[in-house]
Amino acid sequence: MALLAISLVNAQDLNFPFPLDATTPVPYTLSLDKAIVDEAVLKASLYRPSIDLLDGDTSNAGWLEGPPQQDMAALAKYWAENYDWARIQDEINSNFSHYAVNIQSSDGDVPIHFVHERSDVEDALPLLILHGWPSTHLEWSHVINPLASPEDPTAQAFHVVAPDLPGFGFSPAPTSSGLGPRRMGEAFHQLMVQLGYEKYGVVGTDIGYLVGLSMSDQFPDNVVGYLSDFWIVQPNSTDLERNAQNQTTEEEALYIAAFTEWFGQHSSYSTVHQQAPLAIAQALTDSPVGFAGWMWHLMHAISDGYDYSFDELITDAMMLWIPGVYANVRVYKEMLKDTSELSFVTVPTAATQWGIPNAPFEPVRNFNNVPREWLQRSVNLVYLSRHETGGHFPAINEPELWVGDVREFFGSLVDGSLQ
Ligand SMILES: *[C@@H]1O[C@H](CO)[C@@H](O)[C@H](O)[C@H]1NC(C)=O
Ligand SMILES: *[C@@H]1O[C@H](CO)[C@@H](O)[C@H](O)[C@H]1NC(C)=O
Ligand SMILES: *[C@@H]1O[C@H](CO)[C@@H](O)[C@H](O)[C@H]1NC(C)=O
Repeated sequence: MALLAISLVNAQDLNFPFPLDATTPVPYTLSLDKAIVDEAVLKASLYRPSIDLLDGDTSNAGWLEGPPQQDMAALAKYWAENYDWARIQDEINSNFSHYAVNIQSSDGDVPIHFVHERSDVEDALPLLILHGWPSTHLEWSHVINPLASPEDPTAQAFHVVAPDLPGFGFSPAPTSSGLGPRRMGEAFHQLMVQLGYEKYGVVGTDIGYLVGLSMSDQFPDNVVGYLSDFWIVQPNSTDLERNAQNQTTEEEALYIAAFTEWFGQHSSYSTVHQQAPLAIAQALTDSPVGFAGWMWHLMHAISDGYDYSFDELITDAMMLWIPGVYANVRVYKEMLKDTSELSFVTVPTAATQWGIPNAPFEPVRNFNNVPREWLQRSVNLVYLSRHETGGHFPAINEPELWVGDVREFFGSLVDGSLQ
């Protein structure tokens, strides 16, 4: 279809090449304009530290208020003096097969960069994996190859498709509103069909969890199974009443405490992203180090003590700073609209849950442990596994366990032992 209702991208605003005329996937090589890489380094070298309180850990225990000043200063120094984007970009290019396509739909075009690793196993299951914020396809760096090419020949293999969500990484930012989980899901479905995958599995996390839910809702004849390593179920008023009367199970009580603690004390970033995305994007776009700090604050709270290297943190920040911060923070606003419309998901669904024993805030440690019955309120839950550790980024922290669940769930759908 040649007629486009809205043009979502101004090619001249991109600081990386993108083949906007590619209506079918073409091989793609990441290559960021050197000027923008140098600009980030220059800004890092000019980084102006914040003032701080002098009582150290007592005011900012667990990084409650933000990453400590000395950690930010060290990050900025590393960025200015040692960080080498060119080397990392080469690694990303050589690690995986990259493609780009401009998906056409009646609502406008959606340009997408994605990794496509086909398995040597011809009848492997096609699998779409969707990241969230503050991530890109790089969240799947440790799991893509094991999924596509398992060492054990009897293990389920996958043809892996790992896109950057629009406005993240090398998928250009939309310039019109309305690209929430529902329309992103439509675009990713079209992508899978273009690749020859009429039937496929979906894995999602964080914002990608909502896109995956929406896809399961919209395309139940194509999505053979849905797995998410991240679930949020809001307690309803009956749950809260039962909890107030001490009638909840211990599991329910711990989950309600974690949910209440998270949304009461630690979710301000999400409120800002929903309510004032342009205001915050202006500051964060102007200060790459400030943006890295904004992400790091959240990552520190939920990553279960994972010790990020400066290379990892800066690369993660670069990947969201490149397309412009506005689009990827604004997704939080688009997300809310679509998710209120979801109906019960009938597609066979798996929940994997990851403890956060090393979270700096005690109640938050149970945030991922939604009770089974609560999950069953909205999805056809056929698989549930709970792990002691892993936090919010289990594919980074616990890649082997993460891959194990994905193989087991989809493998048993394929061989028919799980319906
Ligand atoms: C590339 O792959 C290697 C080997 O799996 C991994 O150690 C490295 O972190 C990857 N690089 C990037 C930038 O993802
Ligand atoms: C809360 O969910 C439970 C389980 O589905 C249900 O029995 C109860 O009626 C719900 N309460 C409200 C207020 O919707
Ligand atoms: C619930 O338990 C707490 C702690 O054991 C107790 O302080 C409170 O009075 C109890 N509430 C009700 C309604 O039983």
